Amino acid sequence: MISEKLLSELNKQINFEFYSAHIYLAMAAYCASEDFNGFSNWFKVQAEEEKFHAMKFYNYVNDMNGRIVLEGMPNPQNDFKSLLEAFQISYNHEKIVTSKIYNLTDIATEEREHATISLLKWFIDEQVEEESNFSGLIKRLERINDDPTSLYLLDTELAARVFVPPVTTR
Ligand code: FEO
Repeated sequence: MISEKLLSELNKQINFEFYSAHIYLAMAAYCASEDFNGFSNWFKVQAEEEKFHAMKFYNYVNDMNGRIVLEGMPNPQNDFKSLLEAFQISYNHEKIVTSKIYNLTDIATEEREHATISLLKWFIDEQVEEESNFSGLIKRLERINDDPTSLYLLDTELAARVFVPPVTTR
């Protein structure tokens, strides 16, 4: 059985991951409204990833006989100055996610909660990929600098992204 403190932090993380899905869906809607359907697809797939993250924590808490508590969430940002701004906000959001995962790992380590540490190791690795995806696209958008042909090509590339549920043990 996990401690009340760890359970409370895990519940916060479940809610934050669902909130992440919410903000990326709002970004997908913005991209679609600007006729960037490939970017929109990319953010929709990202939202699926976030729901997967939330459910991975959710299932873990269930397995540990902990009580899951879902909460309401703040309004997401719906309008952006540019695609680049949406990606910059996303990248900063992912850095916050990473710090939350690290904080959870610190608590689990303090409590010698090895099963939770094992779960969190997956998320630590996942965050490396998450941050890299966003920072990579920021660099590409900066390089493109609103060139219409390059933007069109990137939009076409991002249209191909599909959600593939990661293979995990739990
Ligand atoms: Fe669930 Fe993008 O971190």
